[in-house]
This record gives sequence, C-alpha cells and structure tokens, in this order.
Amino acid sequence: MSTTEASGASTAAPVANSGQGAQRETAERPRTNRSQVANTCQSVLALTPTFHPMAYDLDEVVPWGRSFAEYQAMFDLNDTDLQVPILGCGDGPDGFNAEATKAGHSVVSIDPLYASDVKSIERRIDQVFDTVMNQTRANSDEFVWGTPIRNPDHLAATRTTAMQHFLEDFPKGSADSRYIAGALPDLDLADGSFGLALCSHYLFLYSKQISPEEHIASLRELCRVAEEVRVFPLLELGSRPSRHLTSVLRKLTAAGHAVEVRLVSYEFQKRGNQMLAIR
Ligand SMILES: C[S@@+](CC[C@H](N)C(=O)[O-])C[C@H]1O[C@@H](n2cnc3c(N)ncnc32)[C@H](O)[C@@H]1O
Repeated sequence: MSTTEASGASTAAPVANSGQGAQRETAERPRTNRSQVANTCQSVLALTPTFHPMAYDLDEVVPWGRSFAEYQAMFDLNDTDLQVPILGCGDGPDGFNAEATKAGHSVVSIDPLYASDVKSIERRIDQVFDTVMNQTRANSDEFVWGTPIRNPDHLAATRTTAMQHFLEDFPKGSADSRYIAGALPDLDLADGSFGLALCSHYLFLYSKQISPEEHIASLRELCRVAEEVRVFPLLELGSRPSRHLTSVLRKLTAAGHAVEVRLVSYEFQKRGNQMLAIR
C-alpha cells in the first residue's frame, strides 16, 4: 500500500482527556478524513504481497496478528504498564485488544483496516495467509525457532488463534469504540489520551515502504496522544536493522524526546529483540 496516502502531521490543540476511545472533538488543521481512511483501508485490503525467494520480503503492509502474550514480551509490559489506557496502533487483526480486554485492561486499537467489516477483513487474512507462511518457510533461517514459536506449523496455529480472537471480538469491540479506523501519521485522537502507545510490526519493519519523514511524523503523533510510545521490532523485513533507525533516533532526540533502545525477552526475527521507548 502507499502508506503516504494518509499524510499530514498533527499539532491540534489539546481537548479533554477521556482515556479509552478518546477521539478529538476539534481540529485546527485539515486531518485525515473518512474517505482518506477508507482509501488507505482499500489499499490494505487490495494488496498482493510479492514472493521474493532470496529474503523475507513483502511489497506491501499485510494484515497479520500476534497474541497478547507476544505483546507482553515484545513490549516488556509489566503490571504497572497494563494499568494505564493503552493505544495499539497498527494492531490489525491481532489478538492483543480482545485478550487484554478480557483480562480487564483498557485498550483501544487504531488501524486503517477497521474501516472494513469483519467478513472483508477475514477474506483479506485468508488471501495473504499462505503467502506469509510460504515466505516464512522459504526463509526459515531468518527466524528463531523455539520460544515463543516452535516451528512454522506452530506459527500458523498461533497466528490463526490470535486472529480468531480478533475476528470474534471485532463487531462488539467496534461498537464499543475499542477498534477505530485511522492511519498514521495523523490520528483523530485527543492529546494525551493514553498512558502508553504500542506499535508492533508496522513502523521500522516496513522501512522500504515508509519514508524516514513518515516515521518521524508518525512517532511524534504517537507521542502527542500518549505519555510513552513503544515500537517493536527495530528490524525491517529480511531481519536487517531498519535503514531509518539511526536518523529517526537522531531527529527525535533533537526534537526533545527521550529515546531508549531496550532489550526484551522476545526474539522471533533473528536479532529482533530490541524495542524503542520514546517519551
Ligand atoms: C503486519 S500488521 C501488524 C499487526 C499487529 N500489530 C501485529 O503485530 O500482529 C501491520 C498493520 O499495520 C496497519 N497499517 C497500515 N498502514 C497503516 C498506517 N498508516 N497507520 C497505522 N497502521 C497501518 C495494517 O493495516 C496492518 O494491520
């Protein structure tokens, strides 16, 4: 997808923080409108990932879903972290929101995919599932097999279960405003609505598709809506360090943010055991 379809950084004025699901009531500058979000969503739904035999690679961002347990490990989430309102940005069809909500936590997920209905999302998952699994099998040396994922069959089962949790939860979660259609770098959410914003397997992973400028605008936007932002992984597809990481860290620091690259217990892409925390 062209991730620049939903462009435009945000500097809107603060509105009352209302925690979970707080959406902006006013806007000072033109923001992503419904049709832009729908266009972005159509792009996500219409993508046809390309198979590259030499290294794990996808031309486009695909819907894919990890579990709550994987989020806990990727983002080093402890009990204190889980007590604050959490934004999952680019959560797609993962099980994080469904499983966290069941456990009593406060999570809102935002993703352009959520402009679609559950049947369309399910169809899209079915379309990409074999491609992603074939990529993984063909490039299995790029991954750490053991914990948390034993082998490709276990990966398929784990992802299927997580995405099933999402699909079952999505209709009610949408009605409850726990799933909101929206796209970085311009979120229709109030300043400081969340204690923590998590972004898993979108920024940095798709460094070929997302420019450094869009990374910076997106991360600053997440910092606008949350007290702390965590991003995982810091590798791009092919298990290489993101080509944008150094310049993005430098620019965020120059803009006054405190950045920390932290080792975490989760490693599935080889050497992909680092998380970025930004305040
Ligand atoms: C590979 S999936 C990751 C899903 C989930 N976070 C996980 O780790 O299992 C990438 C997600 O990024 C979403 N996405 C694409 N463009 C986006 C944008 N501009 N802003 C936020 N999310 C976006 C896609 O719709 C997709 O659901």
